[in-house]
Amino acid sequence: MKIRVPATTANIGPGFDTMGIALNLYNYFELEEKKEKKTLADIAFGKYFEYIGKEIPNYSVKILDSEIPIARGLGSSASLIVGGIALANNLNNNYLSDIEILEIAIEVEGHPDNVTPAIFGGLCVSAVRDDKAFYCKREIDDSLNFVTFIPPYEVPTQKARSVLPKEIDYKKAIENMSNTAMIISLIGEKNYKDLSSFLHDNLHEPFRKELIKDYDSIKEISKNYGSIGTYISGSGPTMISLTLEEDFIEKLNDEKLSDIKILELKCDNEGYVVL
Ligand code: HSE
Repeated sequence: MKIRVPATTANIGPGFDTMGIALNLYNYFELEEKKEKKTLADIAFGKYFEYIGKEIPNYSVKILDSEIPIARGLGSSASLIVGGIALANNLNNNYLSDIEILEIAIEVEGHPDNVTPAIFGGLCVSAVRDDKAFYCKREIDDSLNFVTFIPPYEVPTQKARSVLPKEIDYKKAIENMSNTAMIISLIGEKNYKDLSSFLHDNLHEPFRKELIKDYDSIKEISKNYGSIGTYISGSGPTMISLTLEEDFIEKLNDEKLSDIKILELKCDNEGYVVL
C-alpha cells in the first residue's frame, strides 16, 4: 500500500491561516519495518492510534519519493502528517472519515490551511471552532497555472511567524477580509482573470518579504510578463505567480533568476490518494 500526498500553497496572499490550494507536486509514502528514528510522519501515524485508543502497530513510515522541497512554503510537513495518518487509516480498514483525519492532522500541524487541501485537494477554506474542524472546497481547472519560484534557501515557518506584528490597522484588516472573500468567490466562479485585484495582503507579506531576497524581482518580472498576480506561498520563501498563459515560463528564460528553481504547476483536485 502506497500513499501519494500533494504539495500545498497556503494563504494565497490575503487568506492568512485560512485557505490553501493543493498542487500537482507529490510525496509518496509506505509502511516499513519499525526504525529507531522518528519523523513527523511517524508522529502523525502514532497520533492516529492514540486518537482511536489503540496500541501503535510496529511500523515506521517510509518516504519513498519526495518531490516537495523542505521548508520552502509548499506544505512538506503537512504532506508528512497526512501521509502518516492516511497510512494508519488504511492499515486500520479506513475506520476514520476524512474529516476525522483532518482533525488529527490539525492537532499535529497546529494550523489547518495546508493539511486541509493535502487531504481534500482543490482550494480549501478551513477553520476550527470549539475543537471541530470545518472546510469548504472549490475545484480549480487546469487553465490556471501556478508558476512556482523556489529559492535555494530555507525559511522555517517559525522564523517567518516571528517577524509578524501583534496588531494591525483596522482598514488594512478590512482590505484583507474583502480580498480573501473575493478570491474564494472568483475561484468558485472560475473567474481567474479578476483575481489580480485581490491578491494583495497586509497581514504577513509586508513583514516576510524581508526574508526573501528575490521578492521584489520575482514580483516585478512576473508583472512585466503579464501574470495575474504573485504571492508568497505559505510562509515562504517560495513565491507563486498565477497566469492563464501556457508559455509564461518560457518567456522567463532570459531573466536573471538563475539560482531559483521555477516549476509550472496545476491545482490537484483529489488530495491524498491510496495507490
Ligand atoms: N498560514 C501559515 C503561515 C502557513 O503563513 O504561517 C505555514 O505554511
